Amino acid sequence: MTQLGLETHVVHPDTLARTIARFRERGIVLPTFSQLADPSTIPDDIQARLADIDPDAADPLNLFRVHWYNAADRKTLAAVPGHVVLPKSFTGVDAPIIVALGERFPMITAHKVLAAYGCLAPRLVTGQFDPSHHRAIWPSTGNYCRGGVAVSRIMGCHGVAILPEGMSRERFDWLESWVLDADEDIVRTPGSESNVKEIYDACNALDVDPENVIFNQFAEFGNALAHRLCTGSALSHVFQHVAEQHPGLELFAYTSATGSGGTLSAGDHLKDAHGARIVAVEAVECPTLLRNGFGEHNIQGIGDKHVPFVHNVMNTDAVAGVSDAATDSLFYVLNTPEGRAYLAERQGVPQATLDATSSFGLSSLANILAAVQVARYWDLGPHQAVITVATDGAALYGSEHAGILAKRFGGRFDTVAAAQAWGQHLLGQNTAWFQELSHTDKHRVFNLGYYTWVEQQGVSLEDFEQRRQQGFWRDLAALVPAWDALIDDFNARVAGAE
Ligand SMILES: Cc1ncc(COP(=O)(O)O)c(C=O)c1O
Repeated sequence: MTQLGLETHVVHPDTLARTIARFRERGIVLPTFSQLADPSTIPDDIQARLADIDPDAADPLNLFRVHWYNAADRKTLAAVPGHVVLPKSFTGVDAPIIVALGERFPMITAHKVLAAYGCLAPRLVTGQFDPSHHRAIWPSTGNYCRGGVAVSRIMGCHGVAILPEGMSRERFDWLESWVLDADEDIVRTPGSESNVKEIYDACNALDVDPENVIFNQFAEFGNALAHRLCTGSALSHVFQHVAEQHPGLELFAYTSATGSGGTLSAGDHLKDAHGARIVAVEAVECPTLLRNGFGEHNIQGIGDKHVPFVHNVMNTDAVAGVSDAATDSLFYVLNTPEGRAYLAERQGVPQATLDATSSFGLSSLANILAAVQVARYWDLGPHQAVITVATDGAALYGSEHAGILAKRFGGRFDTVAAAQAWGQHLLGQNTAWFQELSHTDKHRVFNLGYYTWVEQQGVSLEDFEQRRQQGFWRDLAALVPAWDALIDDFNARVAGAE
């Protein structure tokens, strides 16, 4: 239980008392999960005080912006989460593809700060993390660890980012300006995207020190539950809003590239609420779910060569493989004047759509391409929508431009190159790497996780196996109200004078 973070009672009252004292000193109040799912319920006085807070400051009030309802200014509240509906001129398919924008989250301009908070909050309010002397260790491929470092900094404690050395320069620049100690608090592991085993090894080495608390997003159910509730309900709201303008619109599927599998959990909610199919997305250069495969790729944020513990595999309906040649090339087209002119003038992509593409990072494009595959595989029409997320925006990948130009375009990019790339990678996106999972396939993918979790990471067979049943995941949902009650008690004690 302790390993999995499923406690709903105070485990260490003394630690909790110290944390409460620290939060009182620093004036930190925690949002509940239900407030983050529906920020209109955040108390008025907090909303009013937020008006003066920079969304990129390490200010405790920014915890109340860790949700999907930030407006384009990232300061005020939007009535509906930020999203864009991609038209056929962009996607080549009739089905509307709806993309929710993660770039509006505070501090890290990516929604992974929600996963970090989802892992941290239950540990804090059950007395399992003491910011006055523990170090918070955040294993990640780059965005989750930034979210973790941001929330650690708010608490005034050491947040240690563990990430592969090959991740984008922008991630490291951000980390260097946010960690308390740039030499000690950034751990670079060998390799890039697909080297998650190396991240686990670094965590296990740090875990021998009792001062270190590992917030392992790949195994911590707070990650999945935060997304199931907050991302799931936000996407549901976006869909309902879009459906108001398209009467009869069906939510056919949800696509999400899996790193920790947390974001994918929103699909559990969307399936319950709308019958949407859940489609996991991975790089064809490292087809772990599709082919038990391995390899390197540049779709940053997707960790591979393992099946995360919090991935509800048996509820996943399909896997879409997307090539990093496609995400790199389309990213370049979207972020160059030649590419944008081609899209506007030859493809007729509306300016508003082009403007929104600055919110698409590499994995966002993978999610969109997977949605195109869904539309092609199931022959979707204009009344069947696919929804997905743009985890982060193009600004986090500026340093990738030169490498992409050299690798994907031989150093020369013009309108012809833009047209070739768009024709090959978007309009030519096919279903060669799309697999609808049969019941047997789901067991195959589920069983692959055994080697990571039971053999390498020491999870008991019973804890591993119980996740095969949907009842386990339904029961998990009951943890959230219990955690919210603990957060309320915690805040009351912070406000009181004990
Ligand atoms: C840019 C990006 N895309 C996708 C993901 C995958 O999200 P998840 O870990 O929730 O599966 C991540 C995770 O860090 C990410 O940073």
